[in-house]
Amino acid sequence: MAPVPHRGVIAVTGAAGFLGGWVTRLLLDKGYRVRACVRDVDDGRRTDFLKAMPGYASGRLTLHAADLDKEGCLDDILPGCHGLAHVAHISDYVDQAYVQRTCDHIIASINASRSVGRVVVTSSVAAVISEMDLQEVVRRPVFWEGRYPDESNPKRTPQRGQGYSMGKLIAERSFAEAAAVSGVWDSVTCCPGDNVGPIQSAHQKDMGPWQHIIEDMLVGEYEQNGVYRPWMTVDVRDDAAGHIGLLESLTVRNGERYIAWSTDARNVEDICASIDRLLPELNHQYTAPVDPFPDRIKAREGEFRAIWAKADLRNERIRAATGVAFRPLDESIRDCVESLIAVAGTKVKTRS
Ligand SMILES: NC(=O)c1ccc[n+]([C@@H]2O[C@H](COP(=O)([O-])OP(=O)(O)OC[C@H]3O[C@@H](n4cnc5c(N)ncnc54)[C@H](OP(=O)(O)O)[C@@H]3O)[C@@H](O)[C@H]2O)c1
Repeated sequence: MAPVPHRGVIAVTGAAGFLGGWVTRLLLDKGYRVRACVRDVDDGRRTDFLKAMPGYASGRLTLHAADLDKEGCLDDILPGCHGLAHVAHISDYVDQAYVQRTCDHIIASINASRSVGRVVVTSSVAAVISEMDLQEVVRRPVFWEGRYPDESNPKRTPQRGQGYSMGKLIAERSFAEAAAVSGVWDSVTCCPGDNVGPIQSAHQKDMGPWQHIIEDMLVGEYEQNGVYRPWMTVDVRDDAAGHIGLLESLTVRNGERYIAWSTDARNVEDICASIDRLLPELNHQYTAPVDPFPDRIKAREGEFRAIWAKADLRNERIRAATGVAFRPLDESIRDCVESLIAVAGTKVKTRS
């Protein structure tokens, strides 16, 4: 039940991912020893950027193979760690029994470690606002940590696209309950918004979704966002800093959740239009998004946009607990675009 000691030992799941890569880098920058968990240490396409980080050559950063689908996956990695940032995705969010099993695997390894005192579980704002009926957003427009999707809605099923939101809540609750039973570690949840910012490795351009959609904007083919929701964003570096702040915080308590977003919201077409404003030297050709929705949804576009416009995004809790300062979305878009070009070689569609 303890914050991690400064410059202690931290394990990171999903370390080769967009967010996990930044958690790893920022932990190293702050002097921590990091055990980066990936599925395949030898997959250079995904892990070379980790091996190029300062700290790898000296051994302050080590890479470890861990497939969360397997029982005992972190048994050899966690002993000696003070904290765990459980950032990874899992292989499937539809099968909720599988989601529970992955949590059980990690929890058993934490309990066996006899050293981990604080776990930060990466959830999502999908565990805060994902609604089958958008009228719930009208009824409860304040997006804060005490808000949950309407879990009583009978349409809220994995088969209808709610598996991710439901799976994240399984994880939040499983870790908090197990931590309370253990009495020796605590679990805090971070619920990030839509992550935008620089990729560190070319393979991350295909992940996302948001950096991948910005790549699509650069090449001139992207789609409207679901139910015309604007992007509700956080810079991936600030999200990572928030995770580390939660590992370190003296004030957080087991079972608490913290939303990580800047409270900036912008429609998808305006994100695309921002590229030319922020980087005029690219001569980027703005393209309107393709609207893939059926006519019955298209007919309600104005209604849906008006609902989202009244949403009240809050981030006081994470700012108070961690001191994280969120950078403006313009900076995240600019740095994302520049990294896509520089790191992944994306070719920009230009005006003729
Ligand atoms: N990106 C966002 O906007 C956003 C928003 C809210 C919440 N989140 C949450 O933030 C976390 C990271 O997201 P991200 O965008 O950084 O994702 P990402 O780039 O796709 O990275 C996720 C990582 O999860 C790992 N992974 C997947 N299945 C695994 C398994 N069965 N066992 C072990 N590792 C597994 C992968 O590891 P390998 O590369 O080693 O195969 C991958 O690198 C996720 O939990 C996501 O739900 C993201």
